[in-house]
Amino acid sequence: MNSDDNYDYIFKVVLVGDSGVGKSSLLKQFSSREFKQEMKATIGVEFSIHNLEIDGKKVRTQIWDTAGQERYRAITNLYYRKATGVLLVYDITAHSSFRSLSRWLSEARSYAEPDACVTMVGNKSDLRHLRTVTRLEAEDFAKKNDVSFLETSALDTSNVEYAFETLISDMYHSVLFRGSESDSRIADESSRSVNIDKSGSSSSCCLTN
Ligand code: GTP
Ligand code: MG
Repeated sequence: MNSDDNYDYIFKVVLVGDSGVGKSSLLKQFSSREFKQEMKATIGVEFSIHNLEIDGKKVRTQIWDTAGQERYRAITNLYYRKATGVLLVYDITAHSSFRSLSRWLSEARSYAEPDACVTMVGNKSDLRHLRTVTRLEAEDFAKKNDVSFLETSALDTSNVEYAFETLISDMYHSVLFRGSESDSRIADESSRSVNIDKSGSSSSCCLTN
């Protein structure tokens, strides 16, 4: 698939979470297979476009990487507009970033599309020896809030592709389930094609208001 205007579905995903949890690193790893130890904090928002083929359909996703720093909070809210997917990121070595999830989730519920799919990601799983958030408490939170959950590492790449692609697959299946197509039309830029193994897609993803 090329970066042309030829697609069947278009979605918007927003990456949110405290500053330093690794949102930009996850997106960089997913989009260009790179990891930097010295990442600059995001200012405002950055985004990239991804194309996937699911069930023979061309699915385009615009992924918005927002700034976690407090000073940008007021504008971050604007970025949720028309988002059909939210990647809620915390750092498994920073319990405070996990505690912030309730706030991020409540924001997502207020400002993203009411039926948006949400995946909660515990990043930096390579630093498991420094872990302060147990899998159990994370799973418990995910279950209580009816969101998907997995742990990732932008450094060693584990689950990174899976996290994004599962969320995209969830959005796609959610649209099919509701029997309607996304009406968002977003300006696009560069893209790349990837194939998805749909067998890995999960179901319990969507916000229930
Ligand atoms: P803001 O833009 O300020 O919101 O931060 P962010 O969430 O985008 O975090 P960023 O991607 O800039 O990463 C912060 C720091 O964590 C950087 O030094 C990264 O190299 C490091 N980092 C990100 N992901 C991982 C990971 O999976 N493992 C390890 N060990 N370090 C990571
Ligand atoms: Mg960033």
